Amino acid sequence: MTITTKLPLLCFLLCCCYVSGETLFSNVTTRSFEDGYSHLFGDGNLVRGDDGKSVRLLLDRYTGSGFISSDLYKYGLFSAKMKLPSEYTAGVVVAFYTSNGDVFEKTHDELDFEFLGNIYGKEWRFQTNVYGNGSTNRGREERYTLWFDPTKEFHRYSILWTANNIIFYVDEVPIREVVRSDAMGGDYPSKPMSLYATIWDASSWATSGGKYKVNYKYAPFVSEYTDLLLQGCSVHPIQQLPDSSCAELERANYAVVTPQRRTSMTKFRHNYMYYSYCYDTLRYPVAPPECVRIPSEQSRFKDSGRLKFGAHRRSKRRTRAGFRTKDHLDI
Ligand SMILES: *[C@@H]1O[C@H](CO)[C@@H](O)[C@H](O)[C@H]1NC(C)=O
Ligand SMILES: *[C@@H]1O[C@H](CO)[C@@H](O)[C@H](O)[C@H]1NC(C)=O
Repeated sequence: MTITTKLPLLCFLLCCCYVSGETLFSNVTTRSFEDGYSHLFGDGNLVRGDDGKSVRLLLDRYTGSGFISSDLYKYGLFSAKMKLPSEYTAGVVVAFYTSNGDVFEKTHDELDFEFLGNIYGKEWRFQTNVYGNGSTNRGREERYTLWFDPTKEFHRYSILWTANNIIFYVDEVPIREVVRSDAMGGDYPSKPMSLYATIWDASSWATSGGKYKVNYKYAPFVSEYTDLLLQGCSVHPIQQLPDSSCAELERANYAVVTPQRRTSMTKFRHNYMYYSYCYDTLRYPVAPPECVRIPSEQSRFKDSGRLKFGAHRRSKRRTRAGFRTKDHLDI
């Protein structure tokens, strides 16, 4: 993908975001690694930067690695600038997510960014997912590509979770919003969660459904993090104290999808989303309650929820460039 083909959207996304020169998350205080997080697993494979705010996570043939927020939060904004491993990364998964799976084994909640590595010369893809109260048999996956190369520079990835909505952001662009409804019931995450960042070997499924495994000839695979932001309401994991102080979060600028942001979200989804559970009518004949099936959008997707071949404006260009192959559509 050349930069020229991505330029129009890039301009569109940037122009509508940097109006005042301040960024959407500039009021959120950054937190040093020391203050907010701790090493989760992977022995020597978590490497802290000298600046106190950066961390690198490594995957080698012995282990992946990860870190976790020191507190649990009931509602919050969880955000980091990240740079993904480059070169050959098939089978590698870099995850940035909130979960309480360690506390609630059977009824856990989870909000995910999962970045899926790829074979040489092919781009990273990623998925977002939402689980509530152990709804693991009702996956809510969406899959996308990006308008930039995530291995070249740092980009910000953020998960906002309030009592009313969930928003996934890439840089300043909201890419997905889940609005809480009564019909969702317990499927809307509602118990305190921790933030997790991990890198691990997902050879069995990550790339073309497991066809391409991690090749440790290219190890270590290094994922970098900096400027971690966490604005949340920390709570005791079991007592789940009232979250009145969290009203501040709901009032934050970034908790609202303004009309302008909605336009950039729609544009992103039109250009970069290649699978949505909402359009997967084989899996969900009746759409899950939070889904809004838009006829014009639905016509671009097959019953499997995957984009029809050629339905992407972008993918047409890429087909001509000889980039795209079948495995791209595998979910
Ligand atoms: C940051 O805080 C200032 C002062 O409270 C406020 O005027 C401004 O709108 C806030 N910016 C964002 C992006 O939330
Ligand atoms: C979560 O699941 C448990 C066990 O199935 C159930 O007892 C509880 O009522 C559920 N909570 C919500 C909020 O739906």
